[in-house]
Amino acid sequence: MTVASPRVASFVVESGPSVGAVAVAQPRLSWTTAVATDNWVQAGAEIELDGQQTARIDAAHSVLQPWPFAPLVPHARHTARVRVTGVDGGVSAWSEPIEIRSSFMADGEWVAEPIGLAFPEKDAQPFRARRAFEVREGLARGVLFATAHGAYEARINGAAVDDQILKPGWTPYRQRLIHETTDVTSLLDAGSNVLAADVAGGWYTQGFFLPHPRYGAQPAVALQLRLEYTDGSIDTIASDASWKVTGDSPLVRSSIYVGEHWDARLDTPGWDRPGFDDAAWQAVRFMEPMTTPSARTSPAVRAIEELPVDKVLTSASGAQLLDFGQNLVGWVRLRLRGAAGTIVTVRHAEVLEDGELGLRPLRGATSTETYVLAGDGVEISQPKFTFHGFRFAQITGLDSAIDPADVTAVVIHSDMRRTGWFESSHPLLDRLHENVVWGMRGNFLYLPTDCPQRDERMGWTGDIQVFAPTASFLYDSNGFLSSWLHDLALEQTELDGMVPIMVPIAAGDAKRGVAAWGDAATVVPTVLHDRFGDTGVLRTQFASMRDWTDFAANLASDNGLWDTGFQYGDWLDPNAPPEDPYLAITDKGMVATAYLIRSADLTTQAAALLGESTDAQRFAALAERTRNAFLAAYIAPSGAMLSETQTAYALALAFDIARDDALRARLAQRLADIVAANDYRIGTGFVGTPIIAEALANNGHLDVAARLLLQTAGPSWLHPVTMGATTIWERWDSMLDDGTINPGEMTSFNHYALGAVADWMHRSVAGLAPARPGYERVLIEPRPIAGLDHARARLDSPYGPVSVGWRRDGERIVVEATIAPNTRAEVRLPGRTESFDVGSGNHAWICAPPVETTN
Ligand code: BGC
Repeated sequence: MTVASPRVASFVVESGPSVGAVAVAQPRLSWTTAVATDNWVQAGAEIELDGQQTARIDAAHSVLQPWPFAPLVPHARHTARVRVTGVDGGVSAWSEPIEIRSSFMADGEWVAEPIGLAFPEKDAQPFRARRAFEVREGLARGVLFATAHGAYEARINGAAVDDQILKPGWTPYRQRLIHETTDVTSLLDAGSNVLAADVAGGWYTQGFFLPHPRYGAQPAVALQLRLEYTDGSIDTIASDASWKVTGDSPLVRSSIYVGEHWDARLDTPGWDRPGFDDAAWQAVRFMEPMTTPSARTSPAVRAIEELPVDKVLTSASGAQLLDFGQNLVGWVRLRLRGAAGTIVTVRHAEVLEDGELGLRPLRGATSTETYVLAGDGVEISQPKFTFHGFRFAQITGLDSAIDPADVTAVVIHSDMRRTGWFESSHPLLDRLHENVVWGMRGNFLYLPTDCPQRDERMGWTGDIQVFAPTASFLYDSNGFLSSWLHDLALEQTELDGMVPIMVPIAAGDAKRGVAAWGDAATVVPTVLHDRFGDTGVLRTQFASMRDWTDFAANLASDNGLWDTGFQYGDWLDPNAPPEDPYLAITDKGMVATAYLIRSADLTTQAAALLGESTDAQRFAALAERTRNAFLAAYIAPSGAMLSETQTAYALALAFDIARDDALRARLAQRLADIVAANDYRIGTGFVGTPIIAEALANNGHLDVAARLLLQTAGPSWLHPVTMGATTIWERWDSMLDDGTINPGEMTSFNHYALGAVADWMHRSVAGLAPARPGYERVLIEPRPIAGLDHARARLDSPYGPVSVGWRRDGERIVVEATIAPNTRAEVRLPGRTESFDVGSGNHAWICAPPVETTN
């Protein structure tokens, strides 16, 4: 046997907002290997810390491995590298060293006071804060820790300390507040320096559905700069009574929903530098105490992409409209020149209606930017602490129409690593997939939201419950979603196990235990374990999973069905009238009971995996009891269900409620018949949409699933694409065929939930699925469908690049796959009943029964 020459292709430490910034004392480590030889398996690995200590792992493990050294201490800096050995004995070179920096503080170290305006003149008043200080000779390092009740931008000597937006994001502030940790050494000089901040209300002062802000009326900021000197001494500059603040800032008004008003005439250049005269500034007020902040574990929000104006249009009333060609989330940046006092207004809309901006769907979110020119040459305008969901913008107030070259759309979102791609021979299907990606980009902004434009933008639990599998393919969303699950568990502990319908809780009536929404508590951790190989998230979320399932079980009637109480049901199925989305046609008790079974199953699995055997038995019994109750109440032996709907049958099949083969066949046939009778158009809402294609395809009706997927008449996934959609719509008919906006009160054009079918496209149409957590074992099971000539999915999996695709070659199908080193795949080819196993490397098979193998 020849010995392979492996190479470490990536080595990463579990980090927060930037590479190497580690928020926990025992971060996990992951690495991938590249090797030219097939069937490569790791025998072990060595991890070296600071060139001094080495830890050995004598196993194939390479994903999220426990920290093998003494726990990190606050402010520590290390370098680490790894090398791997194959079972054939071949040893790699050491990887490039990676940096590991503790981004957390010591217990009791946080001393910064929350400061704000002593005499605010209006609600949610933005303000500026500053403090001059001296840096002694011999500075080794400066690290800034900062947070806000609101949103802040920290500045040192005239420059923003980082490129992160809307820090510190939105968490249930009273239970969990995040601080950023920023190395600011390069911004500091020996001598006079200034630490300053621009502060606004952000989510903290936002009113949401309430007439008053949920958290507080005025923002506050807290900053703590740690100066480490080469002689070992430390100076701390923290927000306290020595700071000065002013409400006379050019940021006159700032609101997530309303937008911002910036008056450049009020700017006072130099306010964030040494030498500025702050005599007119106020003394600070100490604001509501903050819970001690913890280091960010999720990615930062950054400006990720810029789009130029795609088209200049003229509105029905003769105004200039700018079309960016893509519905996106972020803001418009303008280059302006004009007389002092000129007020430039930017309005945003996702769609046009009657040739004008379609503003009605924004409801209470006016999403308007105003900028008052200072009149001193070229001025750049863009908001700081808000964002908008839009494709079109209208800019008014200048003497003449703006030059589109002076207008740029800036796309912002949580800066996750893109990991998954899909492409096929079908341009509309590819555009659908692209729309799903944009839907995720628009709604992963510190928290997973329902929509990014109207007066919601909230962490609705049901939406991410259905979208998490898709999200976990498209981007490395483990850190992002794990952080949000932490918040979910915090909100839940105060509700006796109930999971609210949104996290953070943003509305007075959010404390409701609703099926398919609260089940985010069990489904999302399961997805993260499955897709990222993260057993830790199951461990940390297990109490949350257990408590939710117990809570839901307690809501069940004596007959075992969860058939009472408030439910959203199969929210927004196409049969519900525009004005009443609650009128979904599938029985709500059936939806709720199916989800109780699902949560009981997932909690059973997690308990078994974690060795919680008493819980495993208890939840297995609950699942069985509830399954039997469902079968008895909702499915006749003939296979007829109480609700003759697509969602009802999809649930019985996809949630494995009916387990008898003959019954499953009858259910599947009826489902296929219902779809056919509906002319192969979709009839599902949030609950049925993610599972219907799979329910059909896995039970003998792939052809029907394919016709549903490729249907272009509405309602269908592709109908909005034929109408020019560039994101996933909230409703199948957010825009009606006549080009008018759906009259319903809720009509967003950027809701990812109905895009959850993309997960099936990855796993089945292309055929790339996890067979074991983290893709340690891949399931290659492509399902060539009529209407496609080829399809392919590609994933940067935790073990490295994987791809699976197929193409037609005459009557034959060629399947090609690449399997990452240190993993194996189970292969199920079209037209062949038995599966087989392959190791890492490139593979191709020609399938036309009988199947031939080319390598
Ligand atoms: C949101 C949803 C959410 C729903 C609850 C809507 O207003 O936009 O996506 O899940 O309410 O039913």
